Amino acid sequence: MTPESDETEGGRSLAVLPPPAQREAPRAAPTAERSLVIVANRLPTQRVGRGAEARWELSPGGLVSALEPALSRRGGVWIGWSGASGEAPGPFRAGRIENIPVPVSRREVAEFYEGFANRTLWPLLHDAIRQPVFERRWWETYRKVNRRFAEAAATSAARGADVWIHDYQLLLAPAMLRALRPDVRIGFFLHIPFPPVELFSRLPWAEQVVEGVLGADVAGFQTAGDAANFRRMARDVGAGTTTGEVVRVEEREVVAREFPISIDVSRQAALASAPAARMGAERLRESLGRERQILLGVDRLDYTKGIEQRLCAYRSLLRSGRARIDRHVLVQIAVPSRENVREYREARRRIEGLVGEINGQHGEVGRVAVHYLRRSLKPDRLAAFYRAADVMLVTPLRDGMNLIAKEYVASREHEDGALALSRFAGAARELSGAVMCNPHDVEGLAESIGQALEMSADEAAARMRRMRAAVAEHDVHRWAGGFLKELGRDRRRSSEA
Ligand code: G6P
Repeated sequence: MTPESDETEGGRSLAVLPPPAQREAPRAAPTAERSLVIVANRLPTQRVGRGAEARWELSPGGLVSALEPALSRRGGVWIGWSGASGEAPGPFRAGRIENIPVPVSRREVAEFYEGFANRTLWPLLHDAIRQPVFERRWWETYRKVNRRFAEAAATSAARGADVWIHDYQLLLAPAMLRALRPDVRIGFFLHIPFPPVELFSRLPWAEQVVEGVLGADVAGFQTAGDAANFRRMARDVGAGTTTGEVVRVEEREVVAREFPISIDVSRQAALASAPAARMGAERLRESLGRERQILLGVDRLDYTKGIEQRLCAYRSLLRSGRARIDRHVLVQIAVPSRENVREYREARRRIEGLVGEINGQHGEVGRVAVHYLRRSLKPDRLAAFYRAADVMLVTPLRDGMNLIAKEYVASREHEDGALALSRFAGAARELSGAVMCNPHDVEGLAESIGQALEMSADEAAARMRRMRAAVAEHDVHRWAGGFLKELGRDRRRSSEA
């Protein structure tokens, strides 16, 4: 399948429309062993190098490392978008994963990805902390691109395969795939929150979206609250009846429950205790000033992450004298994200304005109050920051889970350090040892950060031990294994029926 030829890059047309007969989903021959198909908006790879040196590398990350073993054992494929608009490259292998790129045209990037996914669904599902935008055209394009992903999965899946579809960009794909391939088992996992009925009902297409997800056999959510919201929504639009965690849709049963995602704990622990991270942390402490406590924030530059509120809270601590430039320093790493979306550009402007204001008011020559790094860091470099930080600030206004909180905890081999964690992050359900905070209340947030800074070493250690035990027990391998087991269990139940 090829997107419409509306692509131009540097004035050059990239996509040439093939005759209609060739316009079909990317194909990988179904084989008996190809029994697991992952479908996500993003491929698990990134293109590195240029020209003849260009190659695909697996992106570092928990999801990839959790699914790689199962994909390689079961001979599976990963279907996704490369991140570039226009014609997609053919299927390729990276590491042990076979990638099947789905093309997304430039117009579709604007309407499906930046529009419906990131200006309609993203804010709506994060409790409408920005006004969601409803555009009929975006919805049509969202449906069209979801169908393309579903077709790619239908073409690639072996008979009776497990197909696991991920996240809010592909809410319609489960039902579309079921219509094409009733023989496969379909899992769906939502990585972001699912809001209460009163909020979700604002979406003009709420019913179609719920029916899209109910095309799955297992629908997974980050928390029990998200799953309950979804089940209530399913009842509300009359898409099914519910008993406990099961939604009955005509003759089918859909399990809709929580599967809280996690990180690759041993990989993170190894990164953080490696010589590079030890030395990196030493250098950071040295250059920031050994007498200062280091506060750290690491986020995609997204308005849901509460970076602005965090900066305001820190400013309030500086103003009141509870934080002092000679005793404290805040390091904020902000990873550029979705920069073509207006709300993200606005968030960046406000954040950078605040950083300038705080440093202007409280900084000294050779010593700033906030170090602001707008870039992404490799996992080993990030591990040095986690190792150096005395207090980790994870203060989203709303977040599905937040893996940064878990990475920090897994990196603290000496069982020290404190975590200030928003109660609106899914991670708050598991990390009860954190100092819980409400980022919607800036003065309250300042108080929580103050508590984390002033916590006794004994208390911090007791809390950190509790959090480390929780994270160690539920790592991402257990998450993936648990979800796939449920998908398999469901299969047995249906075939017995
Ligand atoms: C969140 C979403 C993912 C998304 C990621 C990066 O974690 O849940 O689905 O891939 O952000 O965002 P991007 O828009 O760059 O894919």
